[in-house]
Amino acid sequence: MPAIVVHTVGKSILFGEHAVVYGFPAIAVPIPDLQTTVMIFPLIGEEKETIVYEAPDLAISKNLTDLPEDNILVHAVALFRKAYGLSRIPSFRLKITSKIPVASGLGSSASVSVGVIKALSQFLGLKLPLQKINELAFELEKIHHGNPSGIDNTVVSYEKALYFIKGCDPVFLQSPLPLHLLLINSGIPSLTADVVASVKQFREQNPDLVNALFKEIGDLVNSAKNAFQNGDIAQLGTLMVKNHHLLQKLNISLPELDALVDLALQNGACGAKLCGAGRGGNVIALVKEENVHSLQQVFKSRGIQGIVSTVIQ
Ligand code: MEV
Repeated sequence: MPAIVVHTVGKSILFGEHAVVYGFPAIAVPIPDLQTTVMIFPLIGEEKETIVYEAPDLAISKNLTDLPEDNILVHAVALFRKAYGLSRIPSFRLKITSKIPVASGLGSSASVSVGVIKALSQFLGLKLPLQKINELAFELEKIHHGNPSGIDNTVVSYEKALYFIKGCDPVFLQSPLPLHLLLINSGIPSLTADVVASVKQFREQNPDLVNALFKEIGDLVNSAKNAFQNGDIAQLGTLMVKNHHLLQKLNISLPELDALVDLALQNGACGAKLCGAGRGGNVIALVKEENVHSLQQVFKSRGIQGIVSTVIQ
């Protein structure tokens, strides 16, 4: 029997990816239909401190001392030791399983980071507020993402739709109408750190162009915040399509992603765009409730697997 079981959600960026790394606002939503589970089993009767890391999806089961330095649990344990002056930690086995496809822009890494921090803090008897959980999870995100904005760990920590500016407290958003979203997986894996690095390089080569695109994205996010809070689905859809066009100009779309956006729009979606880092991963479509099923069928008939349907209340 595990002593601790923690479930964390996935996420999608609705507006403003990449520009958010440079201080512009973005909007993200939690995806509760995609979850990571972190379990901790105490190891009773171990003489020496023993910590075991298990990730069956990756076929890993190892003692902490045999793991590489960049392993998430190695970092998390070091963070807790430092922050709370822990010299000896009770022995345990931590197991991670996740339904979130990796390298697909749906927050698999943030979901694991937040899950590990939440589970460890409970196991160690620390009653940490979400703000602290988020702060520690951000430290873990930095290991793999180089220069993350912090939006992914924040939306996963709080499990609420939010308007986010790097370094500021999030503003939670509530729509008066439910938003029906479909996530359509291109099946093309994409590593956030690589795409963020390539946008950085593009900006270094074309500072005026890229800064102007970021500014346009930031302005669009502010309009989207109002549309979200007013439940103006038509306006949200229009802004999603505009955001996609700006991301195309940033060179982070692919013909495959553009084709998925077009297919969604031709079949009744109010709006669609790539979401997350881009160069692969998922497209997100905003759909009227009555069209959700038929649009799902359109994608399925084209052989597209793993469509996730979710509702933001
Ligand atoms: C990734 O979900 C969103 C990016 O803007 C990176 C970040 O904000 O850290 C591409």
